[in-house]
Amino acid sequence: MENGINGKVVVITGGSSGLGEATARHLAAKGATVAIAARRADRLGAIVADIETAGGKAKAYTTDVSDKAQVNALITDVLADFGHIDVLVNNAGLMAIAPMSEGHTDEWDRMIDINIKGLLYGVAAALPVFEKQGSGHFVNIASVAGIKVFSPGGTVYSGTKFAVRAISEGLRHEVGGSIRVTTIEPGVIDTELKFGSSHQASQDFVVDFYKQAIPADSVARAIAYAIEQPANVDVNEIVLRPTVQEF
Ligand SMILES: NC(=O)c1ccc[n+]([C@@H]2O[C@H](COP(=O)([O-])OP(=O)(O)OC[C@H]3O[C@@H](n4cnc5c(N)ncnc54)[C@H](OP(=O)(O)O)[C@@H]3O)[C@@H](O)[C@H]2O)c1
Repeated sequence: MENGINGKVVVITGGSSGLGEATARHLAAKGATVAIAARRADRLGAIVADIETAGGKAKAYTTDVSDKAQVNALITDVLADFGHIDVLVNNAGLMAIAPMSEGHTDEWDRMIDINIKGLLYGVAAALPVFEKQGSGHFVNIASVAGIKVFSPGGTVYSGTKFAVRAISEGLRHEVGGSIRVTTIEPGVIDTELKFGSSHQASQDFVVDFYKQAIPADSVARAIAYAIEQPANVDVNEIVLRPTVQEF
């Protein structure tokens, strides 16, 4: 099957739930080999087993993206296992919503460590591989909260997603030529993200706001669209949200 996805090796961080899991299942069904990375090894193992039962190719890599050495090991191990890497989906993320006045500095640290630094570690590890291959594709997951500040409550989360867009655009400009960079900016999608805050009132608000959410495979299809284009077409940004979503 020649579909622009079949035979590609795709590394997906945050592959144990939500958008990462849906993307792994969708791309594997189209013939990609998916390397899924996250902290919860049991969840990864179950998803790999499902994909294999359905005839797909997948492997699990237990990884904490906030640890640079673990991200380096992920890329090194996938390369050793499959010989090349075509796509890195920098998807792992945390949304810990709370008013600034609550001063949840531990959760600010974690969002910066996972959403920004984790993505940068992925870029640092995969870019030399892509440059050596003369090809590669970064798919970075930002958010509509990276276009408009999600305030009150989402200020730091928005800050991390504005950073993802800025880094992605700079990266595209610097490495363009043979390496592609796509930023995906989803609206409200039904995943575990809405449970990321320890601030109960904010979490209650988010869970209510997420009643309008659309399924995670909507984002998986957007990612597949960017990957399946010919090598000389770089889909740079895709914004998608529920039709009923106002923000
Ligand atoms: N859902 C939405 O409405 C929405 C909208 C816009 C953007 N996004 C973005 O989409 C991405 C995926 O989120 P989601 O909605 O699919 O939420 P999710 O269901 O909570 O998934 C988050 C994923 O990130 C992983 N993760 C968290 N911390 C990690 C770490 N330190 N190291 C490695 N993996 C880590 C989690 O796995 P483990 O816990 O097993 O490590 C999980 O697989 C995030 O970047 C999020 O900001 C989501």
